[in-house]
Formats: sequence, structure tokens, C-alpha cells
Amino acid sequence: MKVSFASAPKASDDALVLTVAGKAPLGPIAQAVDEKLGGVITRAMEVDEGFTGASEQALMLVAPKGAGHDWIVLLGLGEPGSMTPVRAERLGGTLFARLKGEHVSTVSVHADLGEEAALGAEAFNAHLAYGTRLRNYAFRLYKSKPGSDNGKKPKDLEKLTLAVPKPAGARKLFGTLNAVAEGVFLARDLVTEPPNVLYPETFAKRCLKLKDLGVEVTVLDEKKMEKLGMNALLAVGMGSSKRSKLVVMRWKGAKAKKGQGPIALVGKGVTFDTGGISLKPAAGMWDMKFDMGGAAAVTGAMAALAGRKAKADVIGIIGLTENMPAGNAQRPGDIVKSAAGKTIEVQNTDAEGRLVLADALWYAQDKYKPRLIVDLATLTGAMLVALGHEMAGLFSNDDELSEKLAEAGAAVDERVWRMPLDKSYDRMINSEVADIKNIGGGRWAGSIVAAQFLQRFVENGTPWAHLDIAGTAWTEKTRPTVPKGAAGWGVRLLSELVAAYE
Ligand code: BES
Ligand code: MN
Ligand code: ZN
Repeated sequence: MKVSFASAPKASDDALVLTVAGKAPLGPIAQAVDEKLGGVITRAMEVDEGFTGASEQALMLVAPKGAGHDWIVLLGLGEPGSMTPVRAERLGGTLFARLKGEHVSTVSVHADLGEEAALGAEAFNAHLAYGTRLRNYAFRLYKSKPGSDNGKKPKDLEKLTLAVPKPAGARKLFGTLNAVAEGVFLARDLVTEPPNVLYPETFAKRCLKLKDLGVEVTVLDEKKMEKLGMNALLAVGMGSSKRSKLVVMRWKGAKAKKGQGPIALVGKGVTFDTGGISLKPAAGMWDMKFDMGGAAAVTGAMAALAGRKAKADVIGIIGLTENMPAGNAQRPGDIVKSAAGKTIEVQNTDAEGRLVLADALWYAQDKYKPRLIVDLATLTGAMLVALGHEMAGLFSNDDELSEKLAEAGAAVDERVWRMPLDKSYDRMINSEVADIKNIGGGRWAGSIVAAQFLQRFVENGTPWAHLDIAGTAWTEKTRPTVPKGAAGWGVRLLSELVAAYE
């Protein structure tokens, strides 16, 4: 789909999309079309009582002969006085879904925003176009027939034109948003790829492609990690025939101020989590291919930052490994020494994400002295119990960073909810035989216990936030800007968070 911005809609596009703001009278643009076409819009709105112009409603009218278009589409705006970028994106996503499969390939949007609109025409149209982009995603790499599942290819939406008084401004903003969309798609692709294709080495190869965007990429192999003492991460991959990797990406869009390190993004990249010797049950185990969702979000965010030329110094560090049961796999009861020097009693090999992150967090701090760290991980099933698929759990030692994440999340519709950290939970991971054990022992508060484990690997004073994305990385239901499946969750949030420091 090609997106362009022009000062007027294309006269011969298949569909012309006009907007209706709730119960308010038609705006001047829709009114002019209505008059030209013999009152077809006012008549439709009288006849169809279900269409009230509420946000995300869409009504498709066959245009009368001579209109130049086959379709006139009325898109409900809702209340323009409270229009936000996220609402405009949802409108775009919903519009895209409505038009898909209707044999419409060229579309012009000419929106009436009205006097009291909270969002200007440039931002509204750029975000609407971004919404269509985010919704227009499908992963078809392994389908032998192109097109839809029945082999029939629906006519695609090929050209979207948005009419704005000042197209240049909208075009520029869309360019930035589109770079973020590319990062989201990269993350979705990585999460959707099957685990026989995407494993540590092949994941690292995909990261190396970011060099084309100007990202510095370094891949550490097992030998290098052994030298550094990263035994916690390595222990997870022992049972796998695939070799573990640590990928370090850096986008240096600005020099950090003196004495200020980069922003560090750290991701859990377990390319498949069987649980290891503490084996998971068979039902639904296939979805543990998504256990690298944190690493995918970090990789997608690095692509987004480079794509939009963010004026920031950001490192992305992802720990890549596969958790398999085998004769040489780690056992429950093993004690490993992490790179930070702390010994860990592995009581459950299925609590492997925290082992991976312990060493990845150490690497970030030891090598870069970052000004702040955000880690993302599909860390605990308990997170789904707590927050479902709607929000990610946020755990942090820093109020300011937490607030910035909450604001960024609300701004891009990737919301987070702050959960507690406390000594009373921290105590639960004291081990009898090592410095720390990798499970709490009881059934309860699993997500908090996991976060407490990570906090033991955060050096005092470094602002740190952990996002448990077990519930948000994958979506069971289609949302306006996220088709069901891999959500690419976190890319937009991280890009927005970094923007707050640019
Ligand atoms: N990758 C899983 C977390 C997970 C489970 C995400 C289900 C989404 C759905 C993680 O490695 C894991 O297995 N965690 C265990 C921890 C437990 C052994 C303390 C869990 O949540 O059951
Ligand atoms: Mn696990
Ligand atoms: Zn896992």
C-alpha cells in the first residue's frame, strides 16, 4: 500500500472517505460532496439509524453515476474535541479492515475535523495513515499459495491518498511514524517465525541486517560469553543443539552528555522454551516460540530508532538461547555462577528467562554504565493472570522512569501498569545453598518474585524498569491497529520513551 499526502483528494479513486463527527451537522467538505451528489450522504444517514458518526463506525455507500468514485465511505470520528493520535490510528486501522476485501484499490481520505478539533489536520492524517499501516500486516512466508487462505487473492488496497491543506508537514510526520511501523513489523516477523527457522544464530543474523540502517551490531558467541563468566545465560542453552548468542546493538544518533551513559534496552530472547528438564505440558507448548518477544521488541525498537534517526544514544542487548531438555541440559538443583559473581540455585529450569536476563543486565551495566535500563521479557505466566492481554506489568526502582513509561505507553496505546517490588518478596528468593534461587517456592506473586530476581542484578542507583510482556506480546483477538498474533508490542513504547530523552 502506497501512502501519499496531497492538497486535494484524487477525483477518480475507487473510494472517497469522508468523516462525520457524531451527531454534529456535516462539515463543509462532506456537505459539498453531499450537495454535488444529490443528497446521498444526508439520505444515508437518515435511513441508517445505526450509523451515528461514533468513533470507528464506517458506512459504505455506492456512489451515484458520475461521482467519479465507486464508493463514498462515511467514517465516524466521534468527538473531535478529544481527538488523539491513538484515536486517529485506530480510525485508520478500522478503515483499512473495512475496505479490505471490498475490491477497493485506490482510496482518498478527505476529513472534516471542525473548528474545535484537538488534533490538527497534519497530525490527524499522518496518524490515520500510520494506523492503516499498522493494521496492514500479514505473515505469509510459509503459505504456498499467495493471497488468502482459500487461494483467492483479494484485491489489495494499493494507494491511499490523504488530503491535507499542508501535505509537506503530514508527509514528514508520517515518515517518522512509518519508520516505527517498520520496527513493529520486524518484531512481529521475528515472533511469528517458527522456532526451527529462528534460533539464536539465525536471530543474530537478522540483527546484523540492522547495520544497513546505521546500527552497530556485535554478536558474542559462547566462547566469548564463557570468558566473561556468563554462566547463567549459558546454562539455559546447555540442553540445546543450538549455540547461544548475545547480540549488542547500538544506535548513536547523538553523543551522550559527559558522564552520561546510553539508554540500555535489554531483551529476553528464548527462541523456544520447553521448560527444560522442568518440562512444560504439551498442550499449547507451541506458543513458546514467542518467548523471544522481549528480544524482538528491542530489535524492532533499534530499527525504529535508526529508521527515524532518533537523536539519542541507545544500546540494545538481547540474550538468545533455547531451553531444551537433554542429557546435557541443566538440572533442577544445579548451582551456577553468574557474570555478576552471584551464585544461583536453579530450582526450576523453566524459570529460565531470569537467568538469561541476569547476565544480559550485567553486560549492559559492566560495559556501558547506562543512564537507565529497560528490560522486556515474556517472563511469567502469572503476568497473564494479573493483567491479561491488555497491559504489561511494570516493575521499577525509579518513579520518574515509571512515569515516563506510563506516559509513553498511554501515548502509543501500549499500556503498562506498575506492580510492586518489596523486601518481603525479595526474601522469597534467598537460597539455602547459594546466594539466590530462581523461584520463590510458593505459587503466588510469581511475576513480582521474578522481578525481584532481576533487581538483584541491578546495581544500586541505576534507574531500571522491567516490563513483563507475557500477556501483551501475543494477541488472541484482532485490535484496530494490531492483527491477531504477534503484536510487536514494545517497539512503539520504546521509541516513544526514547523520544522523551531526545
Ligand atoms: N516463558 C515462560 C513464561 C510464560 C508462560 C509466558 C506462559 C507466557 C505464558 C517462562 O519462562 C516460564 O516458564 N515461567 C514460569 C516460571 C515458574 C517456573 C516460576 C511460569 O510462569 O510458569
Ligand atoms: Mn520457562
Ligand atoms: Zn520462558
